[in-house]
Amino acid sequence: MTREITTVGIVGLGTMGAGIAEVCARNGLRVVAVEVDEAAIAKGRGHIEHSTARAVSGGKLDEAGRAELLERISCATSLSALAEADLVIEAVPENLALKAEIFAELDKIVRPDVILASNTSSLSITEISVHTGRPGKVLGLHFFNPTPVLKLVEVVRTVVTEHDVVEDAVAFLGGLGKTPVVIGDRAGFIANALLFGYLNHAVRMYESRYATREDLDAAMRYGCGYPMGPLALLDLIGLDTAYEILDTMYHQSRNRLHAPAPILKQMITAGLLGRKSGRGFYTYEAPDSPVVV
Ligand code: 3HC
Repeated sequence: MTREITTVGIVGLGTMGAGIAEVCARNGLRVVAVEVDEAAIAKGRGHIEHSTARAVSGGKLDEAGRAELLERISCATSLSALAEADLVIEAVPENLALKAEIFAELDKIVRPDVILASNTSSLSITEISVHTGRPGKVLGLHFFNPTPVLKLVEVVRTVVTEHDVVEDAVAFLGGLGKTPVVIGDRAGFIANALLFGYLNHAVRMYESRYATREDLDAAMRYGCGYPMGPLALLDLIGLDTAYEILDTMYHQSRNRLHAPAPILKQMITAGLLGRKSGRGFYTYEAPDSPVVV
């Protein structure tokens, strides 16, 4: 590893950013997280507090360890707080213009050798990278939800990502206890490209009233051994996020498998985003609570 990474900058403390921040802090790294305002910071911190409380009640962390973990995470509302970061991971919503603006600004703030990573699930890392003066030091680090639990991270290199940047990213992920796979820059990478055709197909079955949500989910859990059924998983991912991923893949490949099922858009418009809004295909009392209805 050529770079020593002790301070990680995280841009965006939504579900994924908060999960990544937690994993980094859990492994002894300092984290500086940037959000748009204090309300967004409070929400992100709340997510981390909830998740770490769960780890304590599950016996995976003690109270003192939790307090130290939370202390390692500081938050700010300006990207300039990331000046001392050794690596920055961006995890803001899937909007290319927004990501491009953030990367262009980060490029001016952090040291020239610092790696800039995006947690995008389907946007082009190459297109993001050209908004910086260091495209060779830009790559994708795509984590999975729930981040504290799932080990996979897709490391996405572009045609100009430098070899040592990939090597350092892989070493960094090893230190977090993650399992990296290194791949090229294509919409959906490996996991989402394979997963979302299946999820979309399940939504179409539900939409056409071919099967109930319970039966669709039971079929894949009890017939195929999946930890969650497809509709429960979509609620976990967030229907808005799922729609963006499908739409981006569809526009890139024109594969009808990825043409978002119409009901997804209707549910999003009606505010049914899944666990994060309390209701999606199912209804929830709190973000991590079991299904109520
Ligand atoms: N945060 C932290 N820890 C969590 C958690 C969360 N949100 N959810 C579950 N856990 C922990 C629990 O504390 C528990 O830990 P323990 O073993 O120490 O008690 C462990 O995970 C298992 O949880 P549960 O016993 O409550 O429930 P399950 O055994 O059903 O596991 C699950 C829950 C880990 C969510 C499992 O159902 C699962 O892996 N589901 C599939 C998730 C998946 O496919 N994710 C990928 C989505 S695609 C993606 O992220 C890409 C992006 O681009 C959209």
